[in-house]
Amino acid sequence: MGFYIVIGSAGMLGTDLMEILQESGLAAVGLDVGEVDIRSEDSIRKALARFDPGVIINLAAMTDVDGCETRQEEAFSVNAKGPENLARAAARRGDFFVQLSTDYVFDGLSRVPYKEDDPMNPLGMYGKSKAQGELLIRELLPDNHCIVRTSWLYGTHGKNFVEAIIDAAQKRPVLNVVNDQRGRPTYTMDLARAVLGLAEMRTRGTFHVTNSGEATWYDFAVRIVERTGFSHVRVEPTTTEQLSRPAPRPGYSVLDNSRFVELTGKPLRSWEQALDDYLATRGRKGTP
Ligand SMILES: NC(=O)c1ccc[n+]([C@@H]2O[C@H](COP(=O)([O-])OP(=O)(O)OC[C@H]3O[C@@H](n4cnc5c(N)ncnc54)[C@H](OP(=O)(O)O)[C@@H]3O)[C@@H](O)[C@H]2O)c1
Repeated sequence: MGFYIVIGSAGMLGTDLMEILQESGLAAVGLDVGEVDIRSEDSIRKALARFDPGVIINLAAMTDVDGCETRQEEAFSVNAKGPENLARAAARRGDFFVQLSTDYVFDGLSRVPYKEDDPMNPLGMYGKSKAQGELLIRELLPDNHCIVRTSWLYGTHGKNFVEAIIDAAQKRPVLNVVNDQRGRPTYTMDLARAVLGLAEMRTRGTFHVTNSGEATWYDFAVRIVERTGFSHVRVEPTTTEQLSRPAPRPGYSVLDNSRFVELTGKPLRSWEQALDDYLATRGRKGTP
């Protein structure tokens, strides 16, 4: 048990985690920008002194991958200095600290799923800043943290690929989607439950947690249009090079979940099942 503080609680994953915490009846408070700034040690000290948690879950991050290339100082300040500040505070107070991280800490050159102990070698500033955050947590709080790496998130409370495809399908007859990046799409509701489970067990170390299976963005888009009544929209495979985005992205970022499966006894459901559930939930909530 213990009192939970969730930082980044208004984000895509944070909103779902707060909902699950509420359903679970666990005592928790959620904070986001305006209430705490993880870049500032002073802001963190005040927030923690006010709420006196036993567990800190940090979901706050600069998640704009392309923006991190042009605003590098901000990226490192939020994604590396932020976790550093929190880890230092958790060490001082004796709190358990859970940090979310990303498949973008890897270079994507592997052809087999990445394990937790594989060497990090991020390509872009988002991955570099998140990797530095991880290293600082391991250094400052070696025995009292859990780092959860995940990938390709979508959920009802944030901008994401599923919504981008549905939006584009309403406007265009043909969608060009990259078919040379392979990973694991993950529904924030499934991830939020898993993160809370790890936090409740005070599971220490680094864990990869994603929905099961694997897909390219093209595969993912094809299923989205099929399941949302846009089968008449043609999805065309394209390449990362043709799309020419500012940030480099790993070509292969499938995360190996076996450590999580050994611990919990079962994997998260397949990305296809999770997507169908998301689309049904979205329909019930009347998302435009
Ligand atoms: N989205 C993905 O596909 C993905 C994949 C792998 C890992 N992750 C990781 O999973 C976690 C959650 O991702 P998400 O997509 O839910 O993120 P998100 O929707 O961008 O939410 C992050 C929240 O943190 C807030 N925040 C930003 N800077 C802050 C600061 N200095 N102090 C306090 N709060 C701050 C943001 O506020 P503003 O919106 O006002 O900036 C936002 O509400 C992150 O650690 C991310 O790196 C995400």
